[in-house]
Amino acid sequence: MGERTRPTLARTREELAAARAELPGEVAVVMTMGALHEGHAELIRTARRRAQHVLVTIFLNPLQFGAGEDLSRYPRTLDVDLGICAREGVELVFAPTPDVVYPEGDPGVRMSAGPLGEVLEGRSRPGHFDGVLTVVAKLLHLTRADRAYFGQKDAQQLLLIRRMVRDLDFPVEVVSVPTVREGDGLAMSSRNTYLTPSDREAALSLSRALRAGADAAVEGPSAVRRAARSVLVAEPLVLVDYLVLVHPTTLQDVPEWYHGEALLAVAARVGTTRLIDNQPLRVGPGGGPLEVSVVGGTMGS
Ligand code: PAF
Repeated sequence: MGERTRPTLARTREELAAARAELPGEVAVVMTMGALHEGHAELIRTARRRAQHVLVTIFLNPLQFGAGEDLSRYPRTLDVDLGICAREGVELVFAPTPDVVYPEGDPGVRMSAGPLGEVLEGRSRPGHFDGVLTVVAKLLHLTRADRAYFGQKDAQQLLLIRRMVRDLDFPVEVVSVPTVREGDGLAMSSRNTYLTPSDREAALSLSRALRAGADAAVEGPSAVRRAARSVLVAEPLVLVDYLVLVHPTTLQDVPEWYHGEALLAVAARVGTTRLIDNQPLRVGPGGGPLEVSVVGGTMGS
């Protein structure tokens, strides 16, 4: 696809409101922190198939980064991002600065992700999901989108956004989009740019472990966990934070007798980079990989 007209760039709430008023009909939003890659492009393409207009937000949200995390080194590539948005036919980009989103500084009132926000990623990154949900709620209000598209890659984030929308009656449909992978299986992530060539080679063991787990799905939960673990223990450069097989909506470990949909999720440090990946699957008879979590979700097509 060639370069198209650049999208309208809104930097303030007033510019966003004025540009948004020019978009009649259904509007879909794809929220990003910038450093766009093929995974974001796929979210945009999926959104464009159904909505009349696609709006992309580019905002590196300080509220979801803890002390010592990678906020200061997170890649900032606004010009390239706008080029990708133009190529994908995005009409409006909202790229505010923190003082536009949080005019009073850190918000005293925030969303709480509750217990589901305290396990897996939340255990390693306390407060992370409160920060994510707070900004997602604000961006939904500011953009007034009818539909919002999120990647399966951040499965816990996706689940929590769905729960927030359902539990607090946000008038928006949340749509999930399968993880986009490099040819060798590495899940696309803005953080992949931190990986050295040897880190990147080692990082492939995450997707290999998930595939091995999915291949063992018919044999049940223990076989899935064993197969995935055996791939990761063979890679000394990968420091595993967690490798779990959990129910896709409770995030609790599934018991050995369990048959049905589950989520095999992994987080690991490779060099200086923390990576996450997951594979939705069906465990037990007829088991195998799924594209996205099916329970409680709408998938983009
Ligand atoms: O997934 C992300 O890029 C971020 O967590 C999001 C949803 C844009 C909120 O800052």
